Amino acid sequence: MMEKILVIGCSGQIGSELTLELRKIYGNNNVIATDIRPASAEITGAGPFEILDVLDASKLQLILEHEKITQIYHLAAILSGNAEKRPLASWDINMRSLMNVLESARELKLKKVFWPSSIAVFGPTTPRFDTPQKTVMEPNTVYGISKLAGERWIEYYFNKYGVETRSVRYPGLISYKTEAGGGTTDYAVEIFYEAIKHKKYECFLGPDSALPMMFMPDAIKATIDVMEAGSSKLSLHSSYNIAGISFTPKELADEIKKHIPDFEITYKPDFRQAIADSWPARINDEVAKKDWGLNYKYDLAKMTEVMLREVRKKFA
Ligand code: NAD
Ligand code: SER
Repeated sequence: MMEKILVIGCSGQIGSELTLELRKIYGNNNVIATDIRPASAEITGAGPFEILDVLDASKLQLILEHEKITQIYHLAAILSGNAEKRPLASWDINMRSLMNVLESARELKLKKVFWPSSIAVFGPTTPRFDTPQKTVMEPNTVYGISKLAGERWIEYYFNKYGVETRSVRYPGLISYKTEAGGGTTDYAVEIFYEAIKHKKYECFLGPDSALPMMFMPDAIKATIDVMEAGSSKLSLHSSYNIAGISFTPKELADEIKKHIPDFEITYKPDFRQAIADSWPARINDEVAKKDWGLNYKYDLAKMTEVMLREVRKKFA
């Protein structure tokens, strides 16, 4: 049977790239892009796009039925930094959107649902280095609590109703197509724009805040790989650790200086420092590697080179 995909949150940092990649695989007309806000010309020009507020359960159901959708990629969420500014509203959006998606998938017997979790599911009591797949999880941010609850719900829908849920715990994602959506790891995107524009950057995290990060092409590949993996290969239906590359703001600045020697970084930690301090520095992803062959192409040096080249092109 032909797959028909619904992407929810196609205008965001991940959706703006994942939608295009999915269209390459399944065909432009078989990937329906949706968001609560307008999408890029690249997305609207090549295939179907609809405005959808995923909190509107009846409209979601209408689109799923009308378009005969078989798989959903649900990317809409309020990220860590923004969620701390509006805790209850963010909890409502993150949880109600997921429940709408899971309930529709159950009722309409959809084939698969992708919903991303995050390194934010871990908390200050989690081991910070080589964080195992299964460990202490006591997140202390509203975003992290919503992601941990979401992981429990997607596993519940798999076990109880057979909804084929798939998920990865993304680290901080770095990309140049679309700006980052209000998270704690956004400094690692902003720094490239400021390095090219002004040769200086004031970082909202301190110099030694090591966090797991990943370049977008590796994240897109991991997303599609976990969705395409045979069901018998998956040993869990909550969410897989994916580690990517870990570095500190100082290490990233030093890498940028290899290309822009007079680049200067200063540090002025804000409320996001406490969030970063509660997350692991480096996580262990051996279960994802073993189950469905997670692999990466980009290290810090390679990612920095491509980011600088592509951001430079944007300003040329
Ligand atoms: P983003 O904020 O860039 O994009 C989210 C998109 O969802 C936006 O375009 C927004 O308009 C849309 N949206 C918000 N509310 C909506 C609603 N009610 N109905 C429909 N659309 C709505 O986020 P992103 O970085 O692309 O992240 C996508 C997913 O991946 C999220 O679940 C996020 O928690 C997760 N994630 C992202 C990262 C990262 O570093 N980017 C890391 C870990 C997990
Ligand atoms: N990049 C995300 C954030 O900082 C991690 O989930 O919120």
